[in-house]
Amino acid sequence: MKTQLKTEVNIGSLSLKNPIMPASGAFGLEMEKAIDFNQLGALVPKSITKLSQPGNVKPRVCETIAGMINSIGIQSKGLDHYLEVSVPAFARYNVPLIASVSAESVEEFVEMSSILGNHPNIDALELNISCPNLKGDGKAFGMDPYITEDLISKSKRVANVPVIAKLTPNVTSIQEIAIAAERGGADGLTVANTLLAMAIDVETRKPLIGNVMGGLSGPAIKPIIVRMIYQVAKVCSIPIIGCGGVMSGKDALEMIIAGAKAVQIGTASFINPTAITDIITEIHTYMDAHQINNINDLVGSVEI
Ligand SMILES: Cc1cc2nc3c(=O)[nH]c(=O)nc-3n(C[C@H](O)[C@H](O)[C@H](O)COP(=O)(O)O)c2cc1C
Repeated sequence: MKTQLKTEVNIGSLSLKNPIMPASGAFGLEMEKAIDFNQLGALVPKSITKLSQPGNVKPRVCETIAGMINSIGIQSKGLDHYLEVSVPAFARYNVPLIASVSAESVEEFVEMSSILGNHPNIDALELNISCPNLKGDGKAFGMDPYITEDLISKSKRVANVPVIAKLTPNVTSIQEIAIAAERGGADGLTVANTLLAMAIDVETRKPLIGNVMGGLSGPAIKPIIVRMIYQVAKVCSIPIIGCGGVMSGKDALEMIIAGAKAVQIGTASFINPTAITDIITEIHTYMDAHQINNINDLVGSVEI
């Protein structure tokens, strides 16, 4: 492996030593046993809510032919526990900590952004605007461009760190929402969360997910996400973090070539706990083989 390979990328003022990081909800401290966190581009723990909540009714996960459906919900021990226990545990590593924030109203997002976005050990916020807004009749915040812009701009005003908007793919035009988030001042866009999905057991005729519907992740969604990254990169100039179905270094490179600056790994880690670090190694090998000295030269390099 050549030593001069440059893998650093920036998301706003946030500098990552390489573009690979976990996806929220698929990464926790227990993975310390499998991988060296110091090798990752960033640490992204599960979304945190203000108050503790138990998550959704079981069963909450089922397998599909090329992925999984989950409706974990935002199972959370609440903000106080996060600040007292989780943040100090992640802060032991010399890697940026991106706090994923989930909330039930714009006001609550702003309140949490103010607390988390001014904490000395938190380096960026990822606003999970893909979760349902209870006041909005279950519609995700990120399905509405006006709410997206308002929420991001208010959170930006109170946070002292880069703010990343995690978009939902369950919209007619991801470009419309991405433009709204950029207008609101987002420093980056995570494209995207899971696709709303359903599976039924034909013997019992019951849904396989207790909540009836859940979010589809894994290889099945990757081509859809690659398309969305490409579309968003055409209309936005802020960095994109690709997320959805990445199982290998080749998948991550596909997203980078489509326009992503960084890539998150979720479902792959459930299958192979060392998937994230394996992918980092595979990217180095590719750069070496293709004489790419700087990963940034690959971003958006798709030839149409
Ligand atoms: C079990 C599970 C739990 C998840 N929890 C969260 C979460 O708390 N917050 C969030 O923003 N996304 C959550 N996600 C979505 C992932 O971060 C990611 O967007 C999605 O799984 C697509 O990436 P993948 O195909 O690489 O898994 C979860 C996904 C799974 C599979």
